[in-house]
Amino acid sequence: MIDPAYLAEILIPTDRLQARVAEMGASISADYAGKDLVLVAVLKGSVLFLADLMRNIMTPHAIDFMATSSYGNALESSGVVRILKDLDSSIEGRNVLIVEDIIDTGRTLDYLVRILYARQPASLEICTLLNKPARREIPVPVKYIGFDIPDKFVLGYGLDFGERYRNLPYIAVLKPEVYGGAADNNE
Ligand code: IMP
Ligand code: MG
Repeated sequence: MIDPAYLAEILIPTDRLQARVAEMGASISADYAGKDLVLVAVLKGSVLFLADLMRNIMTPHAIDFMATSSYGNALESSGVVRILKDLDSSIEGRNVLIVEDIIDTGRTLDYLVRILYARQPASLEICTLLNKPARREIPVPVKYIGFDIPDKFVLGYGLDFGERYRNLPYIAVLKPEVYGGAADNNE
């Protein structure tokens, strides 16, 4: 685990995370009842969220994965996204729900949405656990948002700092003096 001295605060404790994910799963179950749904998770940050969310979706669905990496410096995603791993299956004519850990500038999702839309899904929507509205540069239409959070660097529940701390069962804020602006921008 992490040295507690590094944590400024626990922003979202486990019980609030689980309760909200259950609500989101119930909404998705109702909205996609009877439809061919595929959850497209963006690796790696969304894996814990996906695992809990899909256990709360009571309608049949498939899952698939994409992995991307942003070009640009360590602090800002440039909006030019490199696909490290593409989907296994075609999404043409299917109802696609992108599952993300966090939307920051919106650049990554804007790019992903354009790529996936070109493949002619029946519908394409976004579900994100966390949203940082103060940081948005490109508007992205998000259908499901778990929590709006302030402009602070967070980790845990899938989100990393230098590829670590994804295992924490809560969302925590790192002390600014710890990250000092060295956050990576891989997913
Ligand atoms: P965007 O293109 O700026 O929206 O980048 C979103 C990506 O940046 C997310 O998928 C995360 O990988 C990463 N990211 C943004 N904010 C945070 C944070 O507070 N903690 C950890 N990763 C973050
Ligand atoms: Mg990351």
